[in-house]
Amino acid sequence: MPRYLVTGAAGFIGRSIASALLARGETVRGVDSFINSKRSNLVGLEAMEFIEGDLADPATCAQVCSGVEIIFHEAALGSVPRSLADPVTTNLNCVNTTLNLLVAARAAGVRRVIYAGSSSAYGDTPTLPKHEELLPNPISPYAVAKLAGEHYVRSFARVYGMETVVLRYFNVFGPYQNPSSPYSAVLAVFCRKMLAGEQPTIFGDGEHSRDFTYVDNVVHANLLAAAAPAEKVSGRMMNIATGSRITLNQAFEVARELTGYSGKPAYAPARAGDVRAAQADIRLAGELIGYKPVVDFREGLCRTVEWYRTVPAGA
Ligand code: UD1
Repeated sequence: MPRYLVTGAAGFIGRSIASALLARGETVRGVDSFINSKRSNLVGLEAMEFIEGDLADPATCAQVCSGVEIIFHEAALGSVPRSLADPVTTNLNCVNTTLNLLVAARAAGVRRVIYAGSSSAYGDTPTLPKHEELLPNPISPYAVAKLAGEHYVRSFARVYGMETVVLRYFNVFGPYQNPSSPYSAVLAVFCRKMLAGEQPTIFGDGEHSRDFTYVDNVVHANLLAAAAPAEKVSGRMMNIATGSRITLNQAFEVARELTGYSGKPAYAPARAGDVRAAQADIRLAGELIGYKPVVDFREGLCRTVEWYRTVPAGA
């Protein structure tokens, strides 16, 4: 029986966590419905037991939780604009799935669930950096859905005594992130377009900022959260990011240098539901799990560009 379950194992964060666990010699099960991920992302994870299935189905949840001790719950339907276009599907794939998984995890006696939260929960609260004591202020349906998942996870710690940890990720990027969906994250789009010699678009004036977090930092945080003593982390929520803030104009410049793109960005109106500025206070994760970033923005983007160079356009 595998000790670990990774949901969303074909997504770029899930596959990165699974890969790190396998490299440590752990036994891993993965589940994915491929609603928002690719089969090709499973290449290299052959040692993982893989179950294709949808967490909207309680029977699938029961099957994947069976015999497992720790769950990394990465499965979700990302993207703020997608949630504006279809909030019901976002809710189904972020909230219903999370609740089904928690119910099944409890029934199966899973010891710990580590949940992928989202910085979008903070919304446009003016305080920077964003710290965990701030009241949530979600703007988009996506932010609401990811926050609802957090509340369910924390509730299961309070009322059922399940060990749960919420890691609030800030704009994660890195290899295997899908660069070619209309809902792709900005750095994936920048890398793909610039490497193909196409002009990227910045929505707004480019002074929007994000705490762009290379995926290895998130993997590192998950492994720490899995190993941390329950009395320190159970029922807790903490930011996982780098603690810095990069504007889209700055990100464009770094990507331009790393890809060798020679053009300028196009500018288009800012997106509805967009948050203006995000930067994390990461001290709590330092105190609770000993987290500190292991790869900075520039190095992360360098590795990401090199990875996109190796995959065929559109892959
Ligand atoms: C949001 C969440 C993030 C979550 C992600 C999941 C916030 C602060 N962050 O990311 O935690 O993981 O959803 O989908 O709410 N942009 C461009 N050009 C493009 C694409 C995007 O300028 O081609 C801009 C967007 O308008 C936005 C920024 O880049 O200002 C980042 O967008 P995106 O990568 O989609 O992520 P967020 O919406 O910030």
